[in-house]
Amino acid sequence: MKRTMLVTLVALSAMFTTSLASANDAASVVRGGRLYDNWSTETKSRAPNQPNPAFKTKQVRVAPADTWRCVECHGWDYKGKHGVIGIQGRQKASPAAIAAILKDANHGYEELLDDNDRLDLANFIASGQTDMQRLLAQAQRVKPAQTSSEKVFSSVCAVCHGLEGDRLREIAPLGDSARQRPFEVLHVALNGHPGGNMPALRTLGEDTAVNMLAYLQTLRSLNLVASVANGGRLYDDWQVHTGGQRQALPHPAYPPKAYYANSVNETWRCQECHGWDYKGDQGQYAKGNHATGIKGIRAMAGSDPAKTVAVLRGTSHYFGAVLKHRDLQDLANFVSYGQIDMDTVIDPRTGLSLGDAAQGQTHYRAICAGCHGLTGHFVAKRHLGKVSRSDPWHSLHNMLNGHPDDTMPALRELDPKVTRDILAHIQTLSERR
Ligand code: HEC
Ligand code: HEC
Ligand code: HEC
Ligand code: HEC
Repeated sequence: MKRTMLVTLVALSAMFTTSLASANDAASVVRGGRLYDNWSTETKSRAPNQPNPAFKTKQVRVAPADTWRCVECHGWDYKGKHGVIGIQGRQKASPAAIAAILKDANHGYEELLDDNDRLDLANFIASGQTDMQRLLAQAQRVKPAQTSSEKVFSSVCAVCHGLEGDRLREIAPLGDSARQRPFEVLHVALNGHPGGNMPALRTLGEDTAVNMLAYLQTLRSLNLVASVANGGRLYDDWQVHTGGQRQALPHPAYPPKAYYANSVNETWRCQECHGWDYKGDQGQYAKGNHATGIKGIRAMAGSDPAKTVAVLRGTSHYFGAVLKHRDLQDLANFVSYGQIDMDTVIDPRTGLSLGDAAQGQTHYRAICAGCHGLTGHFVAKRHLGKVSRSDPWHSLHNMLNGHPDDTMPALRELDPKVTRDILAHIQTLSERR
C-alpha cells in the first residue's frame, strides 16, 4: 500500500517536472524565435550604429542595424541569405554548443546578448525550426472555409490588427505580407513579434499556423487609390497629417541659406524641397522664396515604389525614423502613381487653368461650396480665389489629394476635366463679396 503510493507520487512528480520543463522550453523557444527576428527590439537594447563586420555582401543596401539581425544573414526559411550558410544543420545540436557559436568571430554577440538570450536562441535553433517550404505547400492546399482560423483571427488577432488585418500603420496589411512574405509571416505567427505582446501560436501546433497563413492570404490588399491620395496629403505636410511629434531641427538636406531655413517645419515638407508641381529646380518653384536648387521627383513617376521607400529611409532623407511603414508606402505610391504633369491642367506661363469656368461653377457648387461657401470665403485660412490665382499648383495638388488631416475630398479619380473646370472657376472668385 505504502509502496504504491510512493510510486504514484514519483510518477506524478515526474509528470509535473516534465510538463514544467516543456512549458519552459516552449517559452524559451518562442523567445529565441523573436530574438532571431530582432534581438535588439526583443531585449529593448540598441543594435550598434556600425554595420556588422561579418556582413560581407556589398551588392544590397541594408540598414546598419539590420545587419545585426540573425534573420538578415540566415533567412526566414533558415536556409541562409546573402551567401551566408543556413542554421538548419544545427537542428537537434546541443544548445550549449550553439550558444558558443554566438561568441565566435563571425558573430561577436558576446557583449550584446546575455547568457539567457543565447540559451533561448540556441533552443530555438535546436528545436524551433520548421520546414517553411513544406508549411507553405500545405497552406496552399488549405481551403480557408474549412478551418476555424477566421474565428481565431477575429477573436485573438483582430483586437490589434482589425478584422481585415490592415489596421496597424507600422506594418503592411497582413493580407499582402502573407501573400508576399509567407515565411516571415509563419515565423511571426509561430513565435510572436519581437518586443510585443502578440500571442505566439507555436504550442497550438504547426497546423494552426498553416491554417492561419492560408486565412491571412485571403485578407484584403492595400487600397492603392486611397494609399496614393493619402501619400499626396503626406507630401503636402506629413507632420500635420500624422499628428505626431514635430521635428526640432531643420531637415539636414535643406540648404542653410535658403529662405525657410529657420522655419523648421517647412524644411521637412516634401513639397518645400520638390515643389507643388513635383519639378523641383526645373519647375515653378525654382526661383523666389521656395528655391532650394533640389531636383524634382518627376523622374520617379512609374518607378517601383520600393525605390522611393529606400530613398526615404536612406541618409539623404532620414524619414525611416519619423514615419511609419504605411506612411512611407503611401508616399512611395504617390511618387510612383500619383504625380500628374501639371502643365496639362495649368498653363505654365500664365498660371491659369486650361478648363472651362462656367462648367466648373456647377461642379464647385455641388462639391465644394458646402464647406468653402459659394464665394470661397470659408473654411480655408486663405480665400480660395486668391490662393488659386497666386499659387495654382498648390491648389491643384490639394484638389487632387485632399488637405492634410482633413476630410476635404480628393478628386484624383474623377474625370480630369472636372478638376480643370473647377480650378478655372475658383480662379474667378473675387475676394470682395
Ligand atoms: C552578418 C551576418 C550574420 C549574422 C547577423 C548572424 N550570423 Fe550566424 N553565421 C554567419 C556566418 C558567416 C556563419 C558561418 C560561419 C562558418 O562558415 O563557419 C554563421 C554561422 C551560424 C551558425 C552555425 C551554422 C552551422 O551550421 O555551422 C549558427 C547556429 C548561427 N550562425 C546563428 C546565428 C544567430 C542565432 C544569429 C543572431 C543572434 C546570427 N547567427 C547572426 C553570419 C551571421
Ligand atoms: C496585442 C496586439 C497584437 C495581437 C493580439 C496580434 N498582433 Fe500581430 N502584430 C502586432 C504589432 C504591434 C505588430 C507590428 C510590430 C512592428 O513591426 O512594429 C504585429 C505584427 C504582426 C506580423 C508581422 C507583419 C509584418 O509585415 O511584419 C504578423 C504576421 C502578425 N502580427 C500576425 C498576427 C496574428 C496571426 C495574430 C493572432 C494570432 C496577431 N498578429 C495578434 C500586434 C498584435
Ligand atoms: C530638405 C529637402 C528635402 C525634403 C524635405 C525631401 N527631399 Fe526628397 N530629395 C532631396 C534631395 C537633396 C534629393 C536628391 C538626393 C540624391 O540624389 O541623393 C532628393 C531626392 C528624392 C527622390 C529621388 C528623385 C530622383 O529622381 O532620384 C525622391 C523620390 C524624393 N526625394 C522624395 C521625397 C519625398 C516623398 C519627400 C517627403 C516625404 C521628400 N523627398 C522630402 C531633398 C529633400
Ligand atoms: C469637407 C469640407 C471640404 C470640402 C467639401 C472641400 N474642402 Fe477644400 N478645404 C477644406 C479645409 C478644411 C481646408 C484647409 C483649411 C486650411 O487649413 O487652410 C481646405 C483647403 C482647400 C484649399 C487650399 C487653401 C489654401 O490655403 O492653400 C483649396 C485650394 C481647396 N480647399 C479647394 C477645394 C475645392 C476646389 C473643393 C471642391 C472640389 C473643396 N476644396 C472641397 C475643406 C473642404
